Amino acid sequence: MRSERLIKALNEQIKLEFESSYAYIAMEAHFKKNNLDGFANFFHIQAMEERDHAYLMFNYIYSIGGEVELLDISKPNNIFKDEVDVFEQTLAHEQKVTASINNLMDIAMEDKDYSAQAFLQWFIKEQDEEEEVATDLLEKVKMIKSNPSGLFMLDSKLAQRIYTPATME
Ligand SMILES: [Fe+2]
Ligand SMILES: [Fe+2]
Repeated sequence: MRSERLIKALNEQIKLEFESSYAYIAMEAHFKKNNLDGFANFFHIQAMEERDHAYLMFNYIYSIGGEVELLDISKPNNIFKDEVDVFEQTLAHEQKVTASINNLMDIAMEDKDYSAQAFLQWFIKEQDEEEEVATDLLEKVKMIKSNPSGLFMLDSKLAQRIYTPATME
């Protein structure tokens, strides 16, 4: 049996992953409303990946003899000024998730829980990618701000994103 503190933090991480999913569904809705289906597709897939992350945590908790506790999920922000605002919020959100994963790693290290450290390593790497993608798209929408043809080009690029379930393999 692992430390109560670790199980509690993993359960809080499940909540945060579902909140991430919810936040990205709000962004998907925003773009649906604005007829930018490629951007909507990007956030649809983003939302599904966040749910996958929650399930990786969910399964891990059971694999180490812990118990999953589903916590309240808060309402996501659904007010966005423009595309730049959306990606600024995305990046800020991912940075918050990174801090939370790092905090989980701190707990695993303090516990000398090497299995949990190995498990969390995947998420550390995943967060690098998440922040990189968010930063890249933020830079792009900043560049194309107030240029409709640039926006449509990026929209068709994002329409090509395909969902593959997030697994640890
Ligand atoms: Fe995530
Ligand atoms: Fe994420």
